[in-house]
Amino acid sequence: MRATTGSLAMMALAADIAGAVPVHKPRWQHPAQDDYYISLGPRPYYLIQNMTDGPLKQKLESCYNGPFEVTTWSIGHRGGGTLQFPEESVESTMAGARMGAGILECDVSFTSDLGLVCRHSLCDLHTTTDILLRPELAAKCTVPFTPANETADANALCCTSDITEAEYTTLCSKMDGFNASATTPEDYQHGTPSFRTDLYNTCAQVMTLESYIDLVESLPGYRNFTPELKTPPSQVPMPFHGYTQAQYARDMLDTFIRKGISHERVWPQSFNPADIYLWLNEYPAWGAQAVFLDEDGDVASNFSTAVARLPALKASGVNIISPPYNYLLDRGGPDNNTIVPSIYATTAMAAGLDIIAWSFERSGPLDQVRADADYYWSSIADIISYDGQEYEALDVLARQIGVKAMFSDWSATVTYYANCMGLKGPGHY
Ligand SMILES: *[C@@H]1O[C@H](CO)[C@@H](O)[C@H](O)[C@H]1NC(C)=O
Ligand SMILES: *[C@@H]1O[C@H](CO)[C@@H](O)[C@H](O)[C@H]1NC(C)=O
Ligand SMILES: *[C@@H]1O[C@H](CO)[C@@H](O)[C@H](O)[C@H]1NC(C)=O
Ligand SMILES: *[C@@H]1O[C@H](CO)[C@@H](O)[C@H](O)[C@H]1NC(C)=O
Ligand SMILES: *[C@@H]1O[C@H](CO)[C@@H](O)[C@H](O)[C@H]1NC(C)=O
Repeated sequence: MRATTGSLAMMALAADIAGAVPVHKPRWQHPAQDDYYISLGPRPYYLIQNMTDGPLKQKLESCYNGPFEVTTWSIGHRGGGTLQFPEESVESTMAGARMGAGILECDVSFTSDLGLVCRHSLCDLHTTTDILLRPELAAKCTVPFTPANETADANALCCTSDITEAEYTTLCSKMDGFNASATTPEDYQHGTPSFRTDLYNTCAQVMTLESYIDLVESLPGYRNFTPELKTPPSQVPMPFHGYTQAQYARDMLDTFIRKGISHERVWPQSFNPADIYLWLNEYPAWGAQAVFLDEDGDVASNFSTAVARLPALKASGVNIISPPYNYLLDRGGPDNNTIVPSIYATTAMAAGLDIIAWSFERSGPLDQVRADADYYWSSIADIISYDGQEYEALDVLARQIGVKAMFSDWSATVTYYANCMGLKGPGHY
């Protein structure tokens, strides 16, 4: 009895210090990870401190000491540490996991030998890896590096489909950015936005789809997957040497099946409706959790069309709609200065669609979003000017719209909120 009480007291003390409780031990957890605690760092506290006084701030303040646990309401965008770590890397995924993301993302692109790898675009290797510093691989780029001169910016275009999977795995993942004035490949590497950092820009490890699955499987806690099937850009016309988009869509899910991952733990995403309907038809259990990514309202004149089609999407079998959160938020209230659900949000809710939104913490300081014409805050930019408003917006998304989960480039921000509000994300715990 005594020993038990003692060790409980020790655990309570440890939990108090860490502001966290150990994650539940899943069946696949390695024993050495029994005492894995998630860690949120100072950023959620900074955001709360900057909120306007009121019940929401008081509620969030009341959770200062946790307990904080892994939650599927928090989805690690491009890994979840993307605000500071190179995207789609082992390091970003580890950061997102440590910050409590219960679902980790891998954007799925293919290589020249049809290996599936984690990269946000088939053709972003020149800005997200060091490929231009590898002469033998740089020579294979769709558009090799050309230096800037008096009349033209520096240019390059390197695609995952330009190289083999084995070659891909030799690359370093780097912070996304480039220097348009560069006259050498070395200078072209720079250009990380100032609100991110080069602190961890130290050859992060790239992942294949399989190594990502293995990594997520190795993490303590209830961890799940959201792979996004990319639509290749025009520079990689499909079919690619006979490889069709449909086969690519099948190959992505077959990789999970081959690895013995249950469909209940996978939320496959695509912007391409044909991919979603293929999964619904050929892999119905997986298709039921398919995430229909929507950017068709980006052009203002098309927004009402994107809203109007939502009921038809639900009727056609789609269960989860996933727009950027600017689609979901609007200005309202007596002085038109309150964040409210948009017509898109209310229409999706009325249609019975589940909503997952993207991506929090991608924008940098909110006092800049209007001047920068930032995408994610565009629909409410006129009433956004300080960082504490992040949690006001998240609260509208969570409690007025009822989003089922939220992508974030810095998982701690969303994990803190979800824990404080007692939100369980999707999945079978
Ligand atoms: C929030 O930060 C802004 C600066 O971005 C500052 O002007 C404002 O006073 C802060 N609000 C609170 C409540 O701390
Ligand atoms: C500048 O670069 C562009 C693109 O690489 C090239 O077409 C053009 O001839 C160059 N101009 C000069 C003056 O070198
Ligand atoms: C961008 O490239 C130009 C030309 O090579 C160089 O002078 C400049 O310092 C570079 N900027 C950065 C941020 O590396
Ligand atoms: C806007 O909608 C029209 C009609 O459906 C479509 O042809 C066009 O491609 C759309 N534009 C964008 C940018 O989505
Ligand atoms: C509220 O602001 C939006 C722009 O964000 C505008 O379209 C709308 O007309 C405004 N409504 C009122 C009542 O002023």
